[in-house]
Amino acid sequence: PALLVGVRVKKPGFLKKPGVFKCVATPQTAYTSNVSRNPNIAKLQAGYLFPEVARRRAAHMAKYPDAQVISLGIGDTTEPIPDVITSAMAKRAHDLSTLEGYSGYGAEQGEKKVRAAVASAFYGSLGIEEGDIFVSDGAKCDIARLQMLFGSDVTMAVQDPSYPAYVDSSVIMGQTGQYQKDSEKYGKIEYMRCNPENGFFPDLSAVGKTEIIFFCSPNNPTGASATRDQLTKLVQFAKDNGSIIVYDSAYAMYISDDSPRSIYEIPGAKEVAIETASFSKYAGFTGVRLGWTVVPKELLFSDGFPVAKDFNRIVSTCFNGASNISQAGGLACLSPEGLQIMLETMSKVHHELAAVIHEVASVITEFDVAEQSHIARENNHIAHSLATYGMTMAVGHKAHFPGP
Ligand SMILES: Cc1ncc(COP(=O)(O)O)c(C=O)c1O
Repeated sequence: PALLVGVRVKKPGFLKKPGVFKCVATPQTAYTSNVSRNPNIAKLQAGYLFPEVARRRAAHMAKYPDAQVISLGIGDTTEPIPDVITSAMAKRAHDLSTLEGYSGYGAEQGEKKVRAAVASAFYGSLGIEEGDIFVSDGAKCDIARLQMLFGSDVTMAVQDPSYPAYVDSSVIMGQTGQYQKDSEKYGKIEYMRCNPENGFFPDLSAVGKTEIIFFCSPNNPTGASATRDQLTKLVQFAKDNGSIIVYDSAYAMYISDDSPRSIYEIPGAKEVAIETASFSKYAGFTGVRLGWTVVPKELLFSDGFPVAKDFNRIVSTCFNGASNISQAGGLACLSPEGLQIMLETMSKVHHELAAVIHEVASVITEFDVAEQSHIARENNHIAHSLATYGMTMAVGHKAHFPGP
């Protein structure tokens, strides 16, 4: 839209006398539909967290191209996918070019072989069966589908801090009140504070009763994994309140002590818990996309209706099954060779991460808040990065990082 001011026009006949005139464009109003914005989405405060972290990281890199950034943004993987897994996917892709090997829409719940392999690899002795497993395109997508299953009338509790998809999907579903700027929390959500003081496990005696409890172990972002004793308390708490736990075990394979890898290791959990999990962090499937959700047949709504039947209805309506190529990859992950390679890869990543954490921890504990300005003068690149990020550190709080 032109806003021409003070143009000299000399074209004869157009204006009797050459001179100055003003041409001011009328303000343009964009066409709008008659559809009102979903008020629940309008409650969201900002974009989803991780794209925002990536944007700030890119801006930082543009300003400090030599900075070595330890990204604490989206939990993407860095190791290439082992060949035994990609070969299986390549074969399945090629087979799709043959009459015998072609397959179209799969079962919405996942291929029978994959459901059976997940049940036996992860829940062998826990009484979870093939029919309880719903194979999906990833845990995040299942979290959204679970919210659709629960609807907008439920109340939910969530660890604080935790993976942002639980709260955001709850807001979008309309389960929450407005965002409170002073407390930085949404109304109607029960935030279960997890911090060093309580060993990153909430004080359940101070947590209000809700219908749904999202619980992630090992937790993103704290990394804390709940012990058997803590999970036993959580299951009992859910039972006492008649709640359903949505247990996110996306990082369970990273557990190296005897903390449970599945909520179903806790007696009675099948009656109160759904578990959602993923191949993303085990096999580098963040881009391939494959996960699963366990909805045990023992889990019932208050009227006695099986939760799994409704989840099956959601999955059949909103999903057409995970990609057949991804499922071939998942099956290869769960072969004896695939499982062995995944464990070795994770152990390697674990050691590398532990080394980085030790390096960062030693830098962090060397300085206190008052000395932050000294950090920038340090040669150590990590100290420099921390300072340029304006990170604040608690005086005297020395984090304890177990060895690799
Ligand atoms: C705790 C947690 N759950 C789920 C996901 C998403 O997993 P997926 O890639 O299977 O969607 C992530 C990804 O970062 C995560 O951190």
